[in-house]
This record gives sequence, structure tokens and C-alpha cells, in this order.
Amino acid sequence: MHWLLLIYVCLDFLPYVVTSPVTYENVRGKPYSVSYDHRAIAINGVRTMLISGAIHYPRSTPGMWPYIMKMAKNQGLNTVQTLVFWNIHEQKPGVFDFSGRANLSQFLQDAADAGLFVNLRIGPYICGEWNNGGLPVWLNQIHNISFRSNNGAWKTVMRTFLMKIIEYVNPYLAKNGGPIILAQIENEYNGNDQAYVDWCGRLVINELSSAQLVWIMCNGHAANSTIETCNSCNCLDDGWIDNHRRDYPNKPMLFTENEGWFQAWGEAVAIRTTVDTAYSVAEWFAGGGSYHSYYMWHGGNNYGRTAASGITTMYADDVLLHADGTPNEPKYTQLSRLQHLIANYAQILLSQDSIRTLLPYWNGQKWLIGTQQFVYSYSPSLHFISNQNDNTYNVLFRNKNLTITGHSVRIFDDNLNLLWDSTNISDIRSDNTEIFPIVMGPLEWRTWSEQVTSDLPVLTSLYPIEQLKITNDETIYLWYRRNITLTQTQIQSHTLVRVETRKANALLFFLNGEYLGEFDNHDHSQGSLIAIISLDLSIFKPNQQYLFEILSISLGIDNGVWDNNFEYKGIVGNIWLDNQLLVNDETNLWEHQKGLIGEYLQIYTEQGSSKVEWNTQWTKDINKPITWFQTRFNLNHIVREDLNANPILLDARGLNRGHAFINGNDLGLYWLLEGVCRDSTPCCCQQAQINCLEPTQRYYHIPSDWLMPENNLLTIFDDLGAPSPSSVSIVQRVVIA
Ligand SMILES: *[C@@H]1O[C@H](CO)[C@@H](O)[C@H](O)[C@H]1NC(C)=O
Ligand SMILES: *[C@@H]1O[C@H](CO)[C@@H](O)[C@H](O)[C@H]1NC(C)=O
Ligand SMILES: *[C@@H]1O[C@H](CO)[C@@H](O)[C@H](O)[C@H]1NC(C)=O
Ligand SMILES: *[C@@H]1O[C@H](CO)[C@@H](O)[C@H](O)[C@H]1NC(C)=O
Ligand SMILES: *[C@@H]1O[C@H](CO)[C@@H](O)[C@H](O)[C@H]1NC(C)=O
Ligand SMILES: *[C@@H]1O[C@H](CO)[C@@H](O)[C@H](O)[C@H]1NC(C)=O
Repeated sequence: MHWLLLIYVCLDFLPYVVTSPVTYENVRGKPYSVSYDHRAIAINGVRTMLISGAIHYPRSTPGMWPYIMKMAKNQGLNTVQTLVFWNIHEQKPGVFDFSGRANLSQFLQDAADAGLFVNLRIGPYICGEWNNGGLPVWLNQIHNISFRSNNGAWKTVMRTFLMKIIEYVNPYLAKNGGPIILAQIENEYNGNDQAYVDWCGRLVINELSSAQLVWIMCNGHAANSTIETCNSCNCLDDGWIDNHRRDYPNKPMLFTENEGWFQAWGEAVAIRTTVDTAYSVAEWFAGGGSYHSYYMWHGGNNYGRTAASGITTMYADDVLLHADGTPNEPKYTQLSRLQHLIANYAQILLSQDSIRTLLPYWNGQKWLIGTQQFVYSYSPSLHFISNQNDNTYNVLFRNKNLTITGHSVRIFDDNLNLLWDSTNISDIRSDNTEIFPIVMGPLEWRTWSEQVTSDLPVLTSLYPIEQLKITNDETIYLWYRRNITLTQTQIQSHTLVRVETRKANALLFFLNGEYLGEFDNHDHSQGSLIAIISLDLSIFKPNQQYLFEILSISLGIDNGVWDNNFEYKGIVGNIWLDNQLLVNDETNLWEHQKGLIGEYLQIYTEQGSSKVEWNTQWTKDINKPITWFQTRFNLNHIVREDLNANPILLDARGLNRGHAFINGNDLGLYWLLEGVCRDSTPCCCQQAQINCLEPTQRYYHIPSDWLMPENNLLTIFDDLGAPSPSSVSIVQRVVIA
């Protein structure tokens, strides 16, 4: 037995005897202990089945949290899991923010109020398709830092942040009667630095031991003092359960991420079928798992500029609760039934170890024993029969000939009554919502075009400077400006501009304020590339000086961060006009302007909107790049009052690409880019693609607490130019009973 386990057992003075089901309601407000044995996490010494779902606080809003928690509890969860997002809490070194969507303590209180335990995955590297994997970009400036490694500079900042968070959440720890029972250090660490893994392990048993939590490390190397956990689509079929039993016989089996996956711009919407999710969750509990978390249970939205490279604003929409907060049927109900069943039988399941027994299958002529049809029986009353094969088979169980569909699990009681079938969703309605317009008639827009030159401070240099170094990612926009003189050849033929830039970046080109064209890459990855675009300069004159401008737009910082692979944005090397190299010319320096004028003046807020002269002749600005649109609307025709259950959405049809703001709040990047269906089967846990050649995302969620009954200020900044603003509308998605 591992010594840590001994300590926990000794602290408890209680044997692992199952008494009654433990939920947070049973222990709230009083200090309680968290420990584990090989079968489960134990609360006050009682093995407890943790039925969990991931909900990320900044991917929804404080006004939504109580609703989401209530839904989670009703759907059958007893635990929620969240990452901790360093780069929203400490955007500038030493300046902490725990307000609004970053109000982690409010989120923990809302979980506690709903009666839910919490698994806090601190990291601080979190991946999560979150901008820069959760790390503040100012870390890039720390001398000699090497991320996620046994590096002094990294360990110093990582330790400081972990200690800060543990201190901040102290009232919410189990030892103080709060909901937090499990914490995570690091995330999916698959590097080769064992000294770093050991350091993580020492940190949780030394400096962080006073938190009295159980610590996990997921899907990768785990320190001895932590529990390694599974992130996958199916932890039984992929062999994880067998490996874990062999490698960690004294540690319970915890499934931190049953993947619902995510969405990238330009791809068709990817779907994981309900029956596949149901199969994997049922197999997990059958196989002896005692903690299961959907990743995500509610994906929410990447509001503002929080999405990682190429990731859409809706996050993991095809999970149990849609990105807009409506139940995703039939998944929501089918898995709810399973979770309630598992909760009802938790004591029986956790009182014994899981044992797999192979079952004879009918090959058409005789019964054979293979490896893909088996039962996990929990005496006295529960039997999980699983068929891992793609095809339906008949199996022999207790002299009964039972039909089991391919890739499915059926759960029976001891009299062989069918309690649940992973494939049977026939009585669940999937068309459970309808969309209604709530603003009648086209919106009355006014416009203001972003000025290409301004009085804003600029930084000059011989070479273009990498974007994040200047912006600290406080804005996704950076202007690069320089004077150029065109040659006769350049204006006669199309001129090739080549720029060394990064993936997930857009570049818009202007000459004396005239828009020439754009380049964009929206890969969900990182790395350098050379942007090449052909510009028509025939309207310009030779041997005359022009102002050449590039608006660089970050389309998210990739979430993969390790060692010295710093992520960059904007121009990261040379730039050429044909063969003319536009750097290192003392008579023509590069100027850099951080952000847009509209951002400085905050023209998307009540106070800021009066600082510019809006033009009401808005139709003149159709298709005009870098243009702001503004309008007001009332919630006149709402069908249902509860805007959490029946969300309000921006239908962005008619726009191109940019950000939309409601009453000063940034809804995130919208983009009407069409989604392409791939010929091959979609990646990872997904089985299908929908909405081929439709925009990857057309509707954008507006949180209830950002709305007012009347006079809502809607502001749009479309960088490419909006082709049909009159098509934009505000709608409500209503759940039908
Ligand atoms: C977080 O929420 C709580 C409860 O609403 C509030 O008292 C507290 O002031 C909030 N924190 C911040 C930093 O805004
Ligand atoms: C930074 O790294 C270099 C090369 O590894 C080393 O020589 C130098 O001492 C380091 N500086 C600090 C402040 O750690
Ligand atoms: C972790 O456990 C393994 C196997 O028992 C042992 O070889 C190793 O030294 C331990 N590491 C640390 C840092 O305690
Ligand atoms: C088992 O049931 C299947 C389907 O009903 C049938 O085809 C098969 O013959 C049965 N096998 C036996 C041994 O009864
Ligand atoms: C599926 O479930 C429904 C409702 O419980 C039931 O009526 C139906 O018979 C089931 N279908 C199959 C094929 O088991
Ligand atoms: C371009 O040249 C003009 C004067 O000819 C100067 O005022 C301006 O600052 C220059 N612009 C840049 C970006 O260097």
C-alpha cells in the first residue's frame, strides 16, 4: 500500500465500509475528509461514486451559473469539474482579477448551493482549447523560462500561482466544509522530464499538503503522490482500464475527460452520437470506474478573445447541454437515465471489484467464446452486458439467449429485466427546441469606419515586431505601418506580397487607406508560415510615397505550450513586395499601433459610443472593411421569460468576420465561414458531420445577464466588411415541453 494512502486512512480512522450514499448535501458546512482506496474516492471514509461534468466558469456568466448547476444536478451529476484559467486572473503580472466571469468563488458557491462536489483542475497549464492553454502571454518575457519543465523560472511562477489559488479557494475546500474534493496539477503531461513530474509530486505533498485534497494528474505522466486519470473516448475499449489496474493497483479509476470534442472554423459541425457516448459511459462504470466526467457537460462559449487558435466561439456544442444552455437531446435524457441508475446502485457497485466474464456468442451455428462479448456482474442485482464488436450478436447469459447490438451495453437486474439499453433512444425527442425572431423588422444601423491613421501612440523599429510582445494579448489587433515607394513594374503587374507570419492569424493590407485584400489562416495549430497574396496596385502611381498598412488579427493563441515553444502572432520575420525586402531601412521605419481606435474609445459601450460621429446612412458602408455597426433593440417579443433556459442569440447571417458586443460585452469572434465536410470519418470521438457548406457557426449566444428588457446596445466590428447587415437579427431559442 502506498504511504500516502496510509496517511489518509490513518487520518480518517474509518474503514472503507459503505454506509449510505454520500452527496455534498450530506457533508456541506462541516469539515470532512477526502481519501481513496483502489476502488473509489472516499468522503469521510465512505466510497463515493462521482458522476461529474465539466463546466468552465469563464465559458458562461455569473447570471447563468445557478441555472447550469441546477440542470447539472437534475440531469444526474453530483460533481462538477472546472479548469482554472490563469490568463483571465492575472493578465498583468501581479494584478489579479476575480470579478465577473472570473469570479471563481461565486462559481464554487453556486456549485455548493446546488449540492455538487467540485474537481478543481488548476494546472496551471490547462490546454482546454483556451487561448495559450491558460498561460498569460507575459510569461514569454521571463528570462530563460522553459514551460512545463524542471526549469527554475517556470517552477517559481507555477508554484506562486498554485499557492495563490489554493489560498483563494480555501473556504471552499473539503476541510472547511466546502465542495472541493479533488484538485489537479499539470495537465496531460507527456514530456520526458521526470524531474519535473517528481517536483509536481513533491509540491502537492509538501507546500500544498495543508489543502488536504486528493490530487490527480491526467492522461500522461503522474507523480507517485497523485492519481493518473483517463482522458479518452472509451477508457475500456482503448485498454486504459487494464493498464491502470496493472500499473496502479492501489489507485481508483477516474475518467477526467470523456471527450465531446470541439469545433474549428471552416469545418462542418462534428457530432458524437448519443449511443456511442452512452456505450462508453456505461462500459466505464461496468469496468470499475468510480469517477466519470463529461468533457464537456456544458461547453459554453469562448466569449471575448479566449478561444485557442482556430476554435469557434461555441465550445463543444454537441455535449449534454448545448453551448447556448439548452438540453442536447437525446443525449441529455439518455445519459440522465444512466446516471440516475448508477447513483441508485452506487453502494452495490462500490462494495465490490469489477470482474469481467466472457459470454458465449451465437455464430449462426453454435455458441463460441470470444473476447468482445462479456458481462460485469455486481451481486446481488446488476449486470452490464457489453458487445464491443461492430455487429449485433446474440449472447448466452444464464441460459438466456440475449440480443446485444454492436457497440452497446445493456443493463439488467437479477431477474434479467432490462433496466437500460445504450442504443434505445426511441422515446426521446431530439427536436426539442425552436427558434423565434424577437426583434421584428431589420435593425436600424449606424456606422463608423475605423481610421487607418490616428493619434494613438506608436512604437517604431527597423523590423516589424512580433505582435504579442506589443499587445500582451490585451487586444487581438495590431497595425503595422510603413512608407513605401512603388516601382513602375509593381503597379503594372500584380504585386506579390510575402509575409512571415503564424498560423491562426489574419492580415489585411491597405495602401493610403485603400483596402487591397487579406490573407488568413484558421488552423487549430501553431507554427510559422509565409502568407502570400497578390495585390492589384494599378490605381497607384510609380515613384510616389504611399503609406502601406497591415492590420494583423490574432485568431487565437494555440493551446499547446511546452518547453521553449513560445507562440507568436503578427509578423514574425521578413516581408517582401515582390523582391523588395521591406525591413532594415533607416529612412522607412515600421510603426506599430496596438489595437483599434474603436477599442480605445470603447465605442461599444454607452459612455464610449458618443465619442465618435456615427453615420446613419449605413447602407453606404456595406462590404466596407474595418467598419463598426451599431444599433439598439428591445426584447419585445420574447416567448419565454427565463433567458437561461430559453436563450437569446445573435443570428449573424449577413455579417462576415469580427466581434459583436452587447451592452459593452464581447460575444467573441463571429465568422460566417462555411464549414467543409471531410470525406474521411471525422477525428477522435466523432462519428458524423452536419451542416456541410453552411457556416460553421451562425448563431452566437448572448448571456442573460448581459441583456436588458429595453434599449440594448448592439455593436459590431466587421474587419472584412458586412455584406448584408439587414439580415442580422436577434432570436430566441425556446425549449418546447
Ligand atoms: C464574487 O462574487 C461574490 C458574490 O456575488 C461577490 O461578493 C464578490 O464581490 C465577487 N468578487 C469580485 C472580485 O467581484
Ligand atoms: C540563462 O540561461 C543561460 C544558458 O542556459 C545561462 O547561462 C544563464 O545563467 C541563465 N540565466 C539565468 C538568470 O538563469
Ligand atoms: C515513485 O515510485 C516508483 C515506484 O515505486 C519509484 O521507483 C520512484 O522512485 C518513486 N518516485 C519518487 C519521486 O518518489
Ligand atoms: C438465439 O437468438 C437468435 C435470434 O433470435 C437466433 O437466431 C438463434 O438461433 C438463437 N440461438 C439459440 C441457440 O437459440
Ligand atoms: C425502447 O424503449 C422504449 C421505451 O422504454 C420501449 O417501449 C421499446 O420497446 C424499446 N425498444 C427496444 C427495441 O427495446
Ligand atoms: C511617412 O512619411 C511621412 C513624411 O513623408 C511621415 O510624416 C510619416 O510619419 C511616415 N510614416 C511612417 C509610418 O513612417
